[in-house]
Amino acid sequence: MINSSKRGWGHVGLLALVGASAWLAFAPSATPQSSDPPQYDSSGNLLRPVGFETWVFVGSNLGLAYQGEGKPQHPEFHNVYMSPQAYAEFVKTQTFPDLTVFVIDRLTPKDREAKGIVTAGVYNDQRVGILAAVKNMHRPDKRTKPWAYYVFSMDGNQMPDSAKAELDSTDFEKDSEKEKTCEGCHAVHASRDHVWVQFYPILRNLLH
Ligand code: HEC
Repeated sequence: MINSSKRGWGHVGLLALVGASAWLAFAPSATPQSSDPPQYDSSGNLLRPVGFETWVFVGSNLGLAYQGEGKPQHPEFHNVYMSPQAYAEFVKTQTFPDLTVFVIDRLTPKDREAKGIVTAGVYNDQRVGILAAVKNMHRPDKRTKPWAYYVFSMDGNQMPDSAKAELDSTDFEKDSEKEKTCEGCHAVHASRDHVWVQFYPILRNLLH
């Protein structure tokens, strides 16, 4: 009796499995399998990371200019966030696992507000856009560099839903040109596996 009832439930389980796999087979390919970043569209472009404001905040800077770019005309705040799964792994191993995502939230600086209470200092004002860096050993766009870089600029009140990876060092012949690409500069100058850990107190304090 117990045996037969077990078999009965076994059938139900099997049916449920068949049902689930049939659903998976017919589900559109763009349907995310999980909500963990990174997410891509069917062309391999990165979907704009959403909810990064609640990821791990690793550091902030104001008005950094990069070699070759000169002094920026409009200094910006860069607030840098890291995907939580990758952070947990970095705490354990001090390495960036596959599917690590970083986002820079770019904001204009402002030094006065309407009420006139603030008399000195600078705060985060309007978002200009975001930049993303994604480590993916099996990139859906079939490109070979593990780290890919993406730009989402504010257009009116909105940012695009997806972005194609920026050109990288494999797109250029000369070293001087390779180094000007996002990936090229990060590969050569960042302190740990393409990431500027030297600028992020939350991460550099974890290094032994
Ligand atoms: C000439 C060097 C250089 C180039 C080119 C460059 N970056 Fe960076 N990047 C930096 C530096 C320095 C930082 C450290 C902090 C910052 O700028 O906020 C950084 C940080 C970042 C971060 C935060 C995570 C990390 O890796 O530290 C992202 C995301 C990022 N850059 C995206 C981009 C994108 C997208 C491009 C190309 C459009 C790009 N970068 C081009 C120098 C560069």
